[in-house]
Amino acid sequence: MQKPWRVSTIFAAISTLILSGCSGFGGINLERVGAADTVTYFKVALNQTEQHPSFKALEKFGADISKKTNGRYKVEVFPNEQLGSQQEVLQMVKSGAIEMAIVSGTQLENVNQDFRVLNMPTTFSSIQHQISVLQDQNIVGDLFASLADTENITVLGGYTQGARHVYTTYGPVQTPQDLHGKKIRVQESDMHIRMIELMGGSATPLSYGEVYSALQAGVLDGAENNEVSFNTARHMEVAPYYSFTNHLVGLDYMIMRHDLLAAMPAADRELFYETWYDSMDYHTQLWIDYTAESVKIAKENGAKFNSVDSAAFREALSPIVDQFLQTDYQHQLYTEIRNADQQEGKK
Ligand code: GCU
Repeated sequence: MQKPWRVSTIFAAISTLILSGCSGFGGINLERVGAADTVTYFKVALNQTEQHPSFKALEKFGADISKKTNGRYKVEVFPNEQLGSQQEVLQMVKSGAIEMAIVSGTQLENVNQDFRVLNMPTTFSSIQHQISVLQDQNIVGDLFASLADTENITVLGGYTQGARHVYTTYGPVQTPQDLHGKKIRVQESDMHIRMIELMGGSATPLSYGEVYSALQAGVLDGAENNEVSFNTARHMEVAPYYSFTNHLVGLDYMIMRHDLLAAMPAADRELFYETWYDSMDYHTQLWIDYTAESVKIAKENGAKFNSVDSAAFREALSPIVDQFLQTDYQHQLYTEIRNADQQEGKK
């Protein structure tokens, strides 16, 4: 495995020290990280429930790291937005108040627009394609290191969000016309606002934790997400018409305090990455099973699933790539990712 690690600049470490205003870095003495007589605790923020595959995979990641290091590293996962919304926990990782967080691709897009490339409809054809790209440092290495100096964040990799589809309070969606004039929740991203507009709806950006009550109150007419969140966040109770628009294979990132990763002994860092890559694969297995299970649970709770006019949605979304790929680097990254899909197909 090629190592995704890069040497941090002294500037990044010093600026974080100044920003955090203390030597403890949220309780961790960076000089002692990895020492035989020191336990380093990682607080990991997650906005999902304990039933969600991401929670289960993170728990296993924590158990594996602890075992492999004889307890020198311990991971505690805080689910259900206990530590805050994704926007908030991103800032907490940056300031060193917590060590790691799972955040949606849209959150990183707002920090560095190059991340848009991985949040576009059409970028990934399948979960397998997506995960293989995330583990290919030749493709994502520079992007994942791009926030280190300015944000004190390293992107370790990610978990799939699977395919995302639209669901509504009012009835099945078959064509873009069925979304006309309807308020559909999107993640906080200019590109995803445009995505829903192209699909025919009126986009309303909102943080994940607020979606259930907004659907219930009628402030929203629908939302878009995978089957797993439709079930675990109980959106199926308030917007039971789930239409397989298949508009996006979404992506969550694992972000980590860069100064902490930099402070680890090299062998620990390597182990950390290795364990994290295993965790991505484990998550993918859980994901596939729990997607099918979520459809079953949702149906038992009265949700209705339907297919759509896929060609009409594909056609409606076709301008998005040209509108949002702006720089040479973004074009190049998009092309490399698309080419990797063809190679994946040949395996
Ligand atoms: C998925 C994803 C979350 C994200 C959510 C959303 O559930 O896993 O990270 O926050 O979608 O739509 O906001």
